[in-house]
Amino acid sequence: MALRPKFVAGNWKMYTTLGGAKELAAAIASGLGDSRTMVAVCPPTLWLSAVADVLKGTSVLLGAQNCHFEKEGAYTGESSPQMLLEVGCQYTIVGHSERRHGFGETDAFLNKKAHAALSAGLKIIFCIGELLSERETAQTESVLNTQLIGGLAGITAEQMKHVVIAYEPVWAIGTGKVATPQQAQDAHAYVRRTIAGMYGENVAAALLIQYGGSVKPDNAATLLHQPDVDGALVGGASLKADSFLAIVRAAG
Ligand code: 13P
Repeated sequence: MALRPKFVAGNWKMYTTLGGAKELAAAIASGLGDSRTMVAVCPPTLWLSAVADVLKGTSVLLGAQNCHFEKEGAYTGESSPQMLLEVGCQYTIVGHSERRHGFGETDAFLNKKAHAALSAGLKIIFCIGELLSERETAQTESVLNTQLIGGLAGITAEQMKHVVIAYEPVWAIGTGKVATPQQAQDAHAYVRRTIAGMYGENVAAALLIQYGGSVKPDNAATLLHQPDVDGALVGGASLKADSFLAIVRAAG
């Protein structure tokens, strides 16, 4: 099996003040010690530039939560991949369930974003995951399959080096209902098998797959030690340096 690094990212969603975001980023950077785990934070778009300044010279990576698929244009309220790069992002999240279900973003639409971000030179954290009703009707694998095939259409094996998949079951996001380690492992193994079918074993073996959905310091270790769980995409618990750092330590 390929030796994959662990990768823990914090999705701050639409939380934090400007001052709070800078403090949080500084506390995370200074609390990391010599952790070998890759760490990223994804602040609100408006704070990216300020947080980039705080993170300069540290090992903490910077990600956006969303991007548009055009380089520029009449797209009120949007940010292009080029703009995100210019303020210092290395990553952007694409396809978070809150974008899929709250803003109606489809697999085809997200595929355009994935292409635009990767072509511009950003890495992506591409989110997939099933609704509770889909899990209860045994559709989890077919939903993940559709989201992977549609979302990654036309992405090359070479570009897959810059893709992280986040498996975030929608019923576990912000609900306190975490997937069991076995449910997470089963879904991650399915994702890896699907990627192997699309791109071959080498791409699949190197792919980082994060779990997201109510990850907390007290449940992180068992989740993160499942063989196909390579990290976490953390929402609520990423808003406090102590709890986020505890999750990073649990990954190590
Ligand atoms: P919570 O950790 O708050 O459940 O959020 C998960 C998530 O949506 C991360 O992107």
